[in-house]
Amino acid sequence: MKTTLFNPKKSVFFSLIGLTALITTTAFLCRSAKEELIAKDFTRAEKQYKLMLKTSTDLNQFPRTTKKDGSIKGTDVWDWTGGFFPGGLWYIYEYTQKPEWKAAATKWTEALAQGQFLTQHHDVGFVMYCSYGNAMRLEKDPGKLAKYRKILIQSAESALTRFDPKVGLIKSWQAKKSWDNKTTWQYPVIIDNMMNLEMLCYVSKITGNPKYRDVAVSHALNTIKNHFRADYSTYHVVDYAPGGVALHQQTNQGYSDNSTWSRGQGWAIYGFTMMYRETKDKRFLDAAEKAADFYLNHPNLPADKIPYWDFNVGQNSYKPDWDYNSRKLSYVPRDASAGALVSSALLELSTFSLQGKRYFQSAEQMLESLSGDGYLAQTGTNSGFILKHSVGSFPHNSEIDVPLIYADYYFLEALLRYQKLKG
Ligand code: GLY
Repeated sequence: MKTTLFNPKKSVFFSLIGLTALITTTAFLCRSAKEELIAKDFTRAEKQYKLMLKTSTDLNQFPRTTKKDGSIKGTDVWDWTGGFFPGGLWYIYEYTQKPEWKAAATKWTEALAQGQFLTQHHDVGFVMYCSYGNAMRLEKDPGKLAKYRKILIQSAESALTRFDPKVGLIKSWQAKKSWDNKTTWQYPVIIDNMMNLEMLCYVSKITGNPKYRDVAVSHALNTIKNHFRADYSTYHVVDYAPGGVALHQQTNQGYSDNSTWSRGQGWAIYGFTMMYRETKDKRFLDAAEKAADFYLNHPNLPADKIPYWDFNVGQNSYKPDWDYNSRKLSYVPRDASAGALVSSALLELSTFSLQGKRYFQSAEQMLESLSGDGYLAQTGTNSGFILKHSVGSFPHNSEIDVPLIYADYYFLEALLRYQKLKG
């Protein structure tokens, strides 16, 4: 009779084959789950933005949010949000490669041309780079590219008109009163302004002239100095004296001067990650990581990682200078726009940082949350916007728990970044 003897070599061999097969199958299943999520979200985005294109026909009204009656509220070229709708259309084109999306993106981008002369506030970078910057990446026609290039150079010139070398930062707004009603900011700079620097770095690259990038670096270094607290949470507004001394550190859209406005923290994570990509200056990577760690480790970050509109609403020792109770809201709204932009930022940060895995996994979790029924609009609802539940400015009683076009933009961007990364 033949007896089967245990052969340790053979056994190890077969175990290894089994393990490899298991790993390959798991990797395949994971990859397809990820691809499925991305495909599902872009299918939804296409349906929603088809609706948006049907209802938004005035090319001087760039979709931003909804009105109470459910109709779309648009803004003109001179506000800060005009670039996001064209940018979102470019992202849908990038994913689908369908000519109809390119045609829509081109039409809405070109409608923004006058924005190159925007000097009334700092947001020319948001407006022109989210639109024309994406057009430069995805357009192939040399005639159009030459036209867009000129527009972006003029946009960067417009941004530079707001830079005073003695202060070393781009001024965000004209003089403005703070909520305490005592302080008038003369040279206010907000953390959001970090987002205008990407266009400056880009224009230095295409022109070979370092002056735009130098301004971006100066702005970012001074922001590190004055916008972060010791724990790497952020002030929303820093007001400067003519010589560049920081006079006031306060808030405009957050809960209180010492609180952390969630989207502002998001702008910091995104802006410093981007500045590290552009310069490889380790100080920017360090700032991005510390700002991200503050956000991710915060005890008040909900389990789905989509933040409340401010991390400190109603907490002891955070006292607003505006009347919070008059808003009469029985819950603290989330801000999906902050969640979307942080998710996009963390995906990029994950490619630079030694803690990359943690950032990637957190971003993935945020995208899963945003892709669920809680945030992702059902087809045909939400006036065509993709995400629900964002907050524009709670203290101004404006755009509370509504869809916002920039939430959609950073969500689509995050999905594209997610698609390109191995996780
Ligand atoms: N940049 C303005 C805002 O984030 O609301």
